[in-house]
Amino acid sequence: MIFKPFMREGFIPLPVAFISTISNQGIRNIAPYSCIMPVLRPLDLMCVASAKKRDTLVNIRENREFVINLPGTDFTDKVIPTAKFSKPEVDEFKEAGLEEKPSEVIKAPGIAGCYAWMECELYKEYEEEQYVLIMGKVLRLEVADEFLSPDGSLDVRKAKPLMMTGSKKGMHFNTVSDIDQFEPFSAMFPDNKDALASKYNH
Ligand SMILES: Cc1cc2nc3c(=O)[nH]c(=O)nc-3n(C[C@H](O)[C@H](O)[C@H](O)COP(=O)(O)O)c2cc1C
Repeated sequence: MIFKPFMREGFIPLPVAFISTISNQGIRNIAPYSCIMPVLRPLDLMCVASAKKRDTLVNIRENREFVINLPGTDFTDKVIPTAKFSKPEVDEFKEAGLEEKPSEVIKAPGIAGCYAWMECELYKEYEEEQYVLIMGKVLRLEVADEFLSPDGSLDVRKAKPLMMTGSKKGMHFNTVSDIDQFEPFSAMFPDNKDALASKYNH
């Protein structure tokens, strides 16, 4: 079947992250964002595509910081309440019944109960007529211990990362399942050496 080109996101399961920000007046805001991606290994940059009319964008421009919260599937019922239009003066933590997890290096709080939090500072913006690409530098990345495997990787069976695929009528929420297959990065290189391996040493 051939689809219209703009249906492209329906066939790439996307993460559903909650971006939490704070306004100049100290009002807390939350919005779900799926158009997010890390920019290349081993950089510490995240790219978020935002429409122009977003309190999230206003707050990021005002305070140059935001948290990318990664929820499990148990947060599915918080997606629509945080995606619905609310006036900028509404505290969206209260409105959605979400508790805050104080951040360590920025003012904007994270959301309690998520499995991971990226405290970001605005690094750069790329602006077009219809959208803005927000580049965030991850200053601090925390993952709740209970969702980690003994080797430090994410246990997706426990974390159940909230994901979404779009269709003509809306959003289908889903998650990831492990197929128990692992390959080291080094397997991609002719000499079996990962040039970035030392970056991962503590
Ligand atoms: C699952 C989901 C993913 C979304 N992803 C994005 C996105 O990547 N970029 C965007 O600009 N809006 C996205 N939205 C829409 C915003 O979340 C929505 O417009 C929200 O009200 C914006 O809130 P704000 O004005 O408080 O920032 C998404 C909505 C949903 C439900």
